[in-house]
Amino acid sequence: MLNHLSKLVSNRYIGTTICSKRCYTTFKYNKLNDKDIEEFKSILNNEETLLIRDKDDLVSFNSDWMKKYKGNSQLLLKPRNTEQVSSILRYCNERKLALVPQGGNTGLVGGSVPYDDEIILSMSLMNKINDFDPVTGVVTCEAGVILQQLEDYLEPLGYTVPFDLGAKGSCQLGGNISTNAGGIRLLRYGSLHGNVLGLEAVLANGTVLNLNSTLRKDNTGYDLKQLFIGSEGTLGVITKVSLITPPKPTSVNVALLACDSFSSVKKLLIQAKTKLGDILSAFEFMDRGCIDLVLRHQPLQEPFSEKPKFYILLETSGFNETHDQEKLNEFLEYIMEQGLTVDGTVATDSKNQSTIWKFRETITESLGKEGAVYKYDLSLPIDQFYELVEVMRLRLGSKANVVGFGHVGDANLHLNISTPNQKYSKEMINLIEPFVYEYTSKHNGSISAEHGIGLMKKDHLHYSKTSSSIQLMKLLKNSMDPNHILNPNKVLPF
Ligand code: FAD
Ligand code: MLT
Ligand code: ZN
Repeated sequence: MLNHLSKLVSNRYIGTTICSKRCYTTFKYNKLNDKDIEEFKSILNNEETLLIRDKDDLVSFNSDWMKKYKGNSQLLLKPRNTEQVSSILRYCNERKLALVPQGGNTGLVGGSVPYDDEIILSMSLMNKINDFDPVTGVVTCEAGVILQQLEDYLEPLGYTVPFDLGAKGSCQLGGNISTNAGGIRLLRYGSLHGNVLGLEAVLANGTVLNLNSTLRKDNTGYDLKQLFIGSEGTLGVITKVSLITPPKPTSVNVALLACDSFSSVKKLLIQAKTKLGDILSAFEFMDRGCIDLVLRHQPLQEPFSEKPKFYILLETSGFNETHDQEKLNEFLEYIMEQGLTVDGTVATDSKNQSTIWKFRETITESLGKEGAVYKYDLSLPIDQFYELVEVMRLRLGSKANVVGFGHVGDANLHLNISTPNQKYSKEMINLIEPFVYEYTSKHNGSISAEHGIGLMKKDHLHYSKTSSSIQLMKLLKNSMDPNHILNPNKVLPF
């Protein structure tokens, strides 16, 4: 059961453009003037490099990772500390100047770029790791720390970050928390709602809210930090974070398993959970369309002699190599005996493991090379998980390529529809939406499992939230940011 897969090289994503200005806020904002610029310079201690005003320099910050959403900001500010963030927000609130907090700008729902000409508040210089406690495993850092930077800091200390995503080289902790990012370790370590112990946030009026507890247990009333986890920069700017970090597993195995039916995938998941228990650290799903896609764009080789319909990337992580290997072997023998997998490969060394991971982690980038990509990130009951992919294939016929992948262990489907045409088309969107959202709502799923709502789905929120929930969300927004200066036109329809 041991194969060796080829080496690979990373490629750059080539994107396309769409300007999605369908819905308008009723809030009125002032236009930036010279006096504002002088005020921002003074707040930033007259460090000229902390203000970016050049049109060309602003291009990449005005456009999202997929090159799908474009803003028209004339100013980017790079505060160095919480006090500067607070002064900027206080001033913007008084002057009614809107702004969009920006982390690594890897978001996939148009939340991190201006809708119009909002000021971009870049958190990239607030990137200090302040403290790590080896007894509790709690790390405290600034919000602009890049996920990979934290992983590299923790590794020699024998700890790891409890979440991981393909965008780890660019995304920031503040962005991760603001989107309540999921990723490939959620199955093992749970969501950020559990792993973030505390945070510091600056409210729209400049008030610094210190919620930066490092306690695991604290039941003193409402857990206010939870409001900021997943609020996508609409309720405050996260400036500091305290996070639980688990010990880094010392024994890791990665397997790529092929199945010929989705019913086998479901049975495999049950067996992986029961037979591997606490060493199961990832259970990721890809259909054949994803493998074909990745093989078209990455220097990887066909993994198996046959081409079955479904693929599972399974990872175990533990601390006892012999024990973990034995458990994995027992599991593999069982699933082969039961015919749950039709082929497979296991990698115990890091080079081959990373090759297997490339099949999963380069899907997003490979999709970007196909043309325009319509991305849907859904939570669905497991029986509808793949059904929707098949339904969409029937619905779209030869007009588009439909693939399904995702965190099947968390019932999170990434439904991706691509067309060779580089331009996003309204006709294609109308063929997909609201159909996909209605289907998801009908089956009590969620229209955003992990990427958030951003600009893309704000008018579709009602498919996953009741009107009384949306009313309460609006009440919170109005009381915390009455002038709507924070990330206008995102998350909530006003
Ligand atoms: P940005 O994109 O800059 O911002 C995202 C949102 O957060 C915006 O609304 C922004 O205003 C707000 N924000 C950013 N920083 C702050 C702050 N300090 N305070 C307040 N608001 C802030 N997502 C997943 O959940 N799981 C995945 O597996 C995953 N994989 C990905 C793989 C690739 C290749 C790519 C490109 C993206 C992936 N994503 C994934 C989406 C994205 O990476 C995540 O949403 C990530 O958490 C965004 O972090 P960021 O720093 O880039 O935030
Ligand atoms: C992933 O799981 O790879 C990400 O969420 C990115 C994507 O959906 O494209
Ligand atoms: Zn994902």
